[in-house]
Amino acid sequence: MAETIVLTRYADVLEAYRNKDFQQSLYDAGEVVMADVLVTLHGDAHRARRRLENRLFRRDIHLQYERALFPAVIEDTVRPFVAEGRADLVHLGHHLMMNLAALTAGVDRPLGTPDETSRLYRYLMKFIEGATLGHSTRPKAEVEAEVRSAIADFDTEFLDPSIARRRALITRLAAGEITEDELPRDILTVLLRNQDNLALPPDVVTREIAFFLLAGAHTSATAFGRCLHAIWEWIADHPDDEGLVTSDRLFVQRCVHETIRLNPSSPTGMRRALVDARLRSGTEIHVGDTVVFDLISANRDPDVFGPDAADFNPHRQLPEGVGPYGLSFGSGMHACIGQELAAGLVPDLERDGGFDDHLFGLATVAVQKLFDHGARPDPARPPVMDANTRRPYWASYGVVFTS
Ligand code: HEM
Repeated sequence: MAETIVLTRYADVLEAYRNKDFQQSLYDAGEVVMADVLVTLHGDAHRARRRLENRLFRRDIHLQYERALFPAVIEDTVRPFVAEGRADLVHLGHHLMMNLAALTAGVDRPLGTPDETSRLYRYLMKFIEGATLGHSTRPKAEVEAEVRSAIADFDTEFLDPSIARRRALITRLAAGEITEDELPRDILTVLLRNQDNLALPPDVVTREIAFFLLAGAHTSATAFGRCLHAIWEWIADHPDDEGLVTSDRLFVQRCVHETIRLNPSSPTGMRRALVDARLRSGTEIHVGDTVVFDLISANRDPDVFGPDAADFNPHRQLPEGVGPYGLSFGSGMHACIGQELAAGLVPDLERDGGFDDHLFGLATVAVQKLFDHGARPDPARPPVMDANTRRPYWASYGVVFTS
């Protein structure tokens, strides 16, 4: 009989992530959004789509996003909240990361009105509910029906016009009227230019874009809120570091990495074994078994991160070859395509020849933006947990802006 095997050690999880005969199964319950999207594909189908989409996740494009495109989006999103002097961190984080993810996914908002953004936000929240259905405390059929209806409305309202604009540009490129540089640099454009090669039916294009929207927004929004919380707690215990939050972006980036290590946005990975396997540690896995990656434990493995592995410490020294975010971005064939965009690169002065071209990641840039505006927890509106999911998400978290 098939068993469920839970891996808790860093080395086991890393080895299992890299085993090509372990197939994705984390999103089985969320197929209403996740069927046939990149992270649920396997083998050749995954390779072909990933190779195409990888073109968008190059260092020069990341730098363009981080230096040229994202700062204005972050400023525009944060400004009304700062003007009001207060915000709900959960709401702000999701809005912010959705605005950034919409750029990379290729979802236009032609009206540019707050109402239009609120509607996209409601669709996004519904997609997140669909993708994480496995952890929902609500009836599955009810959520699925709501998600299906949200996908259909999103299609008509946002995706169809976004597709039409891109198709017109692709036609103009073919006619020599515009250059390659004038095409949007987003996933939707990549998919439309290759729709025939990949044999992508329209409903798969819709789900892939919905998935990119939620993969980019939800994970980064969670990391953003938790990082601010972790930094406020750190500063309370280490007041000498307070100045670093505005003066040292590398310190903020280390805080982002440490937050992501201790609180993986997706706390488990899951695979189904397609063959029998034996891990180097001796763990036996049989065909049909479900293998669960307990990332919270693996990322606190004292063999790798030391005896204080469970503590938040942005000054932590790591062994060679270990990412400061642990395994929170996965590894192997499904390793997060947006890792550098979200969390930047681990600084390496020798490789980079200085910090001019260093990638800090959008989470770092966004967190620092809040500190630049003097964000602090609002004692009048303490954090409240979300009762609709078994996962530890906040439903609300009040903050005030003091500058
Ligand atoms: C803090 C931020 C993020 C975290 C913690 C995170 C985490 C992850 C993890 C753990 C996986 C692997 C899932 C698995 O193997 O089962 C993954 C895959 C993926 N992520 Fe992220 N992610 C983040 C940000 C982003 C962003 C900003 C984007 C898009 C721009 C993105 C797009 C994706 C995609 C498309 C995949 C699937 C890759 C594939 O299957 O080949 N992620 N992410």
